[in-house]
Amino acid sequence: MTEFSSRVEQMSISGIREVFEAAGEDAINLGLGQPDFPTPVHAREAATEAIDAGEADGYTSNKGTRELREAIAAKHERDNNLAVDPANVIATAGGSEALHIVMEAHVESGDEVVFPDPGFVSYDALTRLAGGTARPVPLREDLTLDPATVEEAITDQTAAFVVNSPANPTGAVQSVEDMRAFARIADEHDVVCVSDEVYEHMIFEGEHRSPAEFAETDNVVLVNACSKTYSMTGWRLGWVTASHERTERMLRVHQYVQACASAPAQYAAEAALSGPQDPVEEMAAAFERRRDLLVDAFAEMGLDCPTPEGAFYAMPRVPEGWVDEVIDRGVVVVPGEAFGDEGEGYARISYATDIETLEEALDIMREATAAVQ
Ligand SMILES: Cc1ncc(COP(=O)(O)O)c(C=O)c1O
Repeated sequence: MTEFSSRVEQMSISGIREVFEAAGEDAINLGLGQPDFPTPVHAREAATEAIDAGEADGYTSNKGTRELREAIAAKHERDNNLAVDPANVIATAGGSEALHIVMEAHVESGDEVVFPDPGFVSYDALTRLAGGTARPVPLREDLTLDPATVEEAITDQTAAFVVNSPANPTGAVQSVEDMRAFARIADEHDVVCVSDEVYEHMIFEGEHRSPAEFAETDNVVLVNACSKTYSMTGWRLGWVTASHERTERMLRVHQYVQACASAPAQYAAEAALSGPQDPVEEMAAAFERRRDLLVDAFAEMGLDCPTPEGAFYAMPRVPEGWVDEVIDRGVVVVPGEAFGDEGEGYARISYATDIETLEEALDIMREATAAVQ
């Protein structure tokens, strides 16, 4: 029998999926990484109009339609004060594919990639898939990533480090000083800073800043997506933007693994990015109310939880056995170790669900907390 590649044998199915499978059908699912809101109507309509007009039947340019890439460039000017050339944008199948092509284009076999632990599960897996060596680094007490920790982890083998703010699974938001420091590290050490900004608009405290604003070299590669911002996870539309040289290398990978992002999704994304932004603000306001509910309830239960300043996750420190007690009682939460070794002793709670359901889940967590204390 043909053996499997050593790259794939090093990877396993995400721990998140295992939790879903272990939970009963009627369980309250606080494990999901997607907003519980509909995609804005104007985005849906742009896709259906393109489909009806027969404009979405064929391949688009590998990088995506000119109009979508112009909308992405305009978004970066509006939200990030960044001048992005539409020629240096590749529309991808979600942020996931964007992260994949960044790694494939920059990570040589044996190269190291530094990323936060606990951190989004793809950083480790995609590093390994590219033949690289994963270098997870621990977070500060408040669950943000310390630039000094990143700098200490950099060796001659380092190809890239990943910054993710607001972050999955912690909800932590990096300060502007941190972002400036990440840009300096990328410049001074001549390594790529992959800035994963998919939760950019889900922010309650402070403001989102990109290391791309501060870098003096072309070493920051920016990944973003419509998935979380516009509740479009099912559409699979993200993008990556970087210098011409880097974009050209990433395009080589993208053209063979994807050809182009789904055409109907490109029309929807263009409308989402350039149309009214109120649905985004409404969603962020709802997440903030839920965040407050959760943080107060955890404090009352005696669980220590750094206040999440963005995304839609909270990551309390939990006593041993807590996750199992909660899951056994019918609420799905994800054990922190699914996001890296340093996640042990934490649980990730997604609050992408309505207040009523959250209150029901919190009652169950209160019982579970009492049971393990
Ligand atoms: C931090 C982070 N980056 C990237 C992604 C990928 O998002 P998508 O491929 O759905 O656009 C996710 C999804 O959960 C995420 O949490």
